[in-house]
Amino acid sequence: MSIIGIIGAMDLEIELLKNNMSLIKEENIAGFNYYNGTIEGKDIVLCGCGVGKVNAASCTQILIDRFNVDCVINTGIAGGMHSDVKVCDVIVSQDVSYHDVRKQQMMSCFPFKEYFEGDKKLIESALRACELTKNEEWNYHLGRVVSGECFVSDSVLKKKIIEEYSPHCVEMEGAAIGHVAHINNIPFVVIRSISDNADDDASISYEEFETISAEHSATIVLNMIKNI
Ligand code: ADE
Repeated sequence: MSIIGIIGAMDLEIELLKNNMSLIKEENIAGFNYYNGTIEGKDIVLCGCGVGKVNAASCTQILIDRFNVDCVINTGIAGGMHSDVKVCDVIVSQDVSYHDVRKQQMMSCFPFKEYFEGDKKLIESALRACELTKNEEWNYHLGRVVSGECFVSDSVLKKKIIEEYSPHCVEMEGAAIGHVAHINNIPFVVIRSISDNADDDASISYEEFETISAEHSATIVLNMIKNI
């Protein structure tokens, strides 16, 4: 039986999943909380990695090494980057990359990749869950997720990132999780619901939508687990 690893950065991003879990064991390793249990009869290790790429990478490596997960799903919120993407929409990662590491460096340094691709089966399963959950108030998109070490709330920076990467959304952990999953040969997918448009009004929108969007993304993951 396979074990599904689920990572969220902030508590509010994993709260709904935690509430739906039959908890077997809780452990703190290197400051990260790992919740071992079942959801819908499936073996799950749920964890909170904190904000940022280094936290995300460290938490993911522990999840793989110590909990033997067979796949990694990252759930949470993000800033919208594509003109089709609206607040509360959901993005499923076709691929992930860093917007604050030069492409040249990505290609010339280990693991010699500009983008880390989401797993086809996990993507299919996430898209199916979106289709089943969807209503007229939001849409879902398969696209690129870019991560960096800052909250993007500046239209000039947003434009620069769009020109270079053509992402659907921006956040601060997904590419690090995809990177670590890739070098360990573990399938991954990032699922994010949009809390803001990563522009000059991002902080206001974020305050209003962080909880709603975090729960939205977690609901998709919950529906994904039911059908996985
Ligand atoms: N997470 C949610 N919104 C974000 C933004 N605008 N930039 C980075 N991470 C985010």
